[in-house]
Amino acid sequence: MKKQKHQHSTSTKYKILDFIAYLGITFITFVIFYLLIPQKPSLLQVILLFLLMIPTVIALVAGAPFVPTPMRGAEKVLKIAGVKKGDTVVDIGCGDGRFCYLAANKFGANSTGYELSPLVWLWAKIRQLFWKSKAKIKFGDFRMHDLSTANHIVAYMLPDTLIKFIPKFEKELKPGSRITSYAFKIGDWVPIHLEPADKEKNLSKIWVYEIGKQYGE
Ligand SMILES: C[S@@+](CC[C@H](N)C(=O)[O-])C[C@H]1O[C@@H](n2cnc3c(N)ncnc32)[C@H](O)[C@@H]1O
Repeated sequence: MKKQKHQHSTSTKYKILDFIAYLGITFITFVIFYLLIPQKPSLLQVILLFLLMIPTVIALVAGAPFVPTPMRGAEKVLKIAGVKKGDTVVDIGCGDGRFCYLAANKFGANSTGYELSPLVWLWAKIRQLFWKSKAKIKFGDFRMHDLSTANHIVAYMLPDTLIKFIPKFEKELKPGSRITSYAFKIGDWVPIHLEPADKEKNLSKIWVYEIGKQYGE
């Protein structure tokens, strides 16, 4: 109990430190940006831009920057994961929404994507018009949302970040749910399938994990 309390206060301390670091990085980025632009914006524009940049920097530092999975890589991920009609797919950092649109339009799944960066989220919403997709693209941090209804999670996030999500995945996902990660493995979890990289098509490795089997059979 004492240990749990200590762990809790330590993680709160780190969260506060992280947040201060994000604000600092946002501020420095912002000052550089401000010095570089020739025509200086009004105070209101400065405040709005600063507020807009905070989540973008958080996404960059805490999750992963916006780098899309190649289209055929995204399709391969969904295929290897075994996504089928009626499944519920969540992309925990959906970028321009490609996984969600493919999952809904080509695989017949119910898909939801979370995106922390406002500009990237806006881009995903614009792309949705062209895809005419029923997928849900939500602005925000996926860590604030319950994943328990999903039976497929897809991720293209940095390895250090993926490790931090393990407790959330284990707490919320049901046994048999799959987490399929493009390019990066999740800590020391044991995959049920590891797809080798395809150098010719410039595709990275893909790890498929299943809740209940993540520490081996
Ligand atoms: C490497 S990109 C991958 C985008 C997309 N999944 C793909 O594969 O094409 C990661 C995205 O996750 C977003 N992101 C990072 N952390 C996040 C979080 N905690 N909640 C929601 N989105 C996040 C970033 O803004 C970025 O757009």
